[in-house]
Amino acid sequence: MMRRISYIRTSPEVWEQIMKRMIRLNGLVLKPEEARDILRYLSANNGLAPEETKPVFWEAEHRLFRDQTDKIPADALQHTCNYCHTIGRVLTQRRTRDDYEKLINMHLGLFPGAENTLRPRRPSRLQEAAPVAYSAPTGSNPAVVPAAAPAVPVRTDGKYPADVAIEYLSKAQPLITPEWTAWKAMMRTPKLEGKWLLTGYQQGKGRVFGTVTIERGTAPDEFISKTEIEYATSGASLTLTGKGILYTGYSWRGRSTGPKSAAPPADPGTNPSEWREALFVSRDANTLDGRWFWGGYEEFGIDAHLVRIGSQPLLAGISAYSLQSPSTSEIRAYGANFPADLKPGDFDLGTGISVKRIVKRTPSVATLEVDVSPKLGVGIRDISLGRSAAERAFAVYDKIAYIKILPDASMARLGGTIAAKQYAQFEAIAYAAGPDGKNQTADDVPLGPVTAHWGMEEFVSTPDDDDIKFVGSMNDSGLFTPNMEGPNPARKKQSNNYPTNNWGDVWVTASYDGAGGSSMKARSYLVVTIPIYVKYDQPEVDQ
Ligand code: HEC
Repeated sequence: MMRRISYIRTSPEVWEQIMKRMIRLNGLVLKPEEARDILRYLSANNGLAPEETKPVFWEAEHRLFRDQTDKIPADALQHTCNYCHTIGRVLTQRRTRDDYEKLINMHLGLFPGAENTLRPRRPSRLQEAAPVAYSAPTGSNPAVVPAAAPAVPVRTDGKYPADVAIEYLSKAQPLITPEWTAWKAMMRTPKLEGKWLLTGYQQGKGRVFGTVTIERGTAPDEFISKTEIEYATSGASLTLTGKGILYTGYSWRGRSTGPKSAAPPADPGTNPSEWREALFVSRDANTLDGRWFWGGYEEFGIDAHLVRIGSQPLLAGISAYSLQSPSTSEIRAYGANFPADLKPGDFDLGTGISVKRIVKRTPSVATLEVDVSPKLGVGIRDISLGRSAAERAFAVYDKIAYIKILPDASMARLGGTIAAKQYAQFEAIAYAAGPDGKNQTADDVPLGPVTAHWGMEEFVSTPDDDDIKFVGSMNDSGLFTPNMEGPNPARKKQSNNYPTNNWGDVWVTASYDGAGGSSMKARSYLVVTIPIYVKYDQPEVDQ
C-alpha cells in the first residue's frame, strides 16, 4: 500500500494532473516515457470501472455544457465542487473518507480562495453593525476590538459545505466498489484490430460516415488508426492517421492528424489538421462510442459511434434526414460489405416507401432512387439492409411546420490576441407538427437541419450597449465567430473612462424560406464572454 496513491482511484486525466502537481510543487523529476508508464500503471490499478466512468465520460469527451446543474447527482455537491471546475472531475474519482478530507485540505492549502466556498468563515450576507469594545489585554493602550462575528452558516443545517460533500462522497463514491473489484479481476486489453464502421454527427456539418482501421501498436495497449470519413451533406472527405492508448481496458485516448493545410481553413469547423479522441469500448468490444474533438476550447467535434465490420453487409445510415410524402428522390446509403449484386429489394424503409433503383454502388456507398407514397403517417423510421438495421435513420413528413435553432442557448469566448477564440455553431432544425397536427407539442418530429439565413439581434439587457456591433459575426452556415478579446477603444467608455471589452449577449436569428413563400423564423440566445485564462486540460493522456 502506498500512502495517498492506494487510497485514490480516478481517471487518466486526474492522475496526469496529480503527477503534474508533484512536478510543479514537489520537485518530482520524470522522463516523459516514465510518466506514460506510471499513468498506465495507475489507470490499470487505481482506475475506474466502466460503469463508474460511463455516466461521466462527457468529461473525457470535452463536451461543452452551458449549465451543469443537471449533471450534479446530489445537492451536497451543488454550489461547492462545481464552482471552480466541472463536476466531472469530482465524479471521476473514488477515495476513502480520510482521503476526501485530504482532498479538501489540498484545496484549502493550495487555493486559499477555496475556503470561501468549502469552509466559509465570513458570513456571506451583510453583517449587522457589531458592538465594539475597548480592550487592552497586554496592558498597553486600549484599542477598539470588534466583537467576534458569530459564525454564520451558509447552510440552514449549520454544516460546512465541504463536510456535507465529504459525507456524500464517502458514501456515494467509496474507494472499494463491487464494480471495480469485478472489473479489475477480468480487465484485459480487447482485440481492437480490424475495420470499424463509423456513424457520426458534427453540429453544423451534419452526418458523417466512414471507416476506421485499427492496427496493433508497439505496446499491447497501443494502437495505430486510420480514419477515412465522408460528410454526407457536402460530400467532403477526410483521411487522418493516428495513435490511441487504451487505459483500464476500455478507455481510448487518441490523437489523429490529417494533411497540414498551408493556411488555417476559413471555417475552423472543417478540415482539422489534428483532432483528439475519447472513445469508450463496450464490454463485448464490438462498439466504440465517444467524441473526436478540436478547437481552442474543443468546441468542434464529431460524435462517433463505431461498430466492428465483420463479413456481413452492414448499414450505417442514409444521407437524407427526412423524406416527404409523396416524393421521389435520390439518397445515399452508407455502410460496409454491400454485395456486388445489391438489389433494390434488399433495403427496407417501411410501408409506403420503395427503392425503385440502385443508381450507383460501391462496397460502402449506394445511391438509391426512393419513391414515397402519398399520405404516409408522420414519424421516425428505421431502415434495414438484410440483417443490419440503422435505427431512427430518417423521418417521414407531410410538410415543414416550423424551425428551431439548436442549441437554444450557447456561449462563445472572445479571443484571437493571446487567447483562442471559442466559436459557437448553431443549426436550424425543421420540424413537422406530428400526428396531432399541432406545432410545438411533444409529438413533433425533427426533420433534420435546413439551410437558413443567419443574423443577430440586440438582446436588450443594458440600454444602448450595441452588442451586435461588437461581439462578433454570424456566417451563412450558422457559425458565430467572436471578436478580439481585450478593451476596444472604439467601444463606449465605462464610468472610469476605460473602453470596454467586446462582450455581450445577443439573439442569434435564423429564417427559412418555406414552401409557398412563407418565411419561418427562430432564435437562440448567445452569451459572448471573456477567455478562460487558466485552462484545465491534460492533452498528454492521448500521446
Ligand atoms: C476554489 C476553487 C475550487 C473549489 C471550490 C473546488 N475545487 Fe477541486 N480543484 C481546484 C483546482 C484549482 C484543482 C487543480 C489542482 C492542481 O492543479 O493541482 C482542483 C482539483 C480537484 C481534483 C483533482 C484531484 C487532484 O488531486 O488534483 C478533485 C478530485 C477535486 N478538485 C474535487 C473537488 C471537490 C470534491 C470539491 C468540492 C468539495 C472541489 N474540488 C471544489 C479548485 C477547486
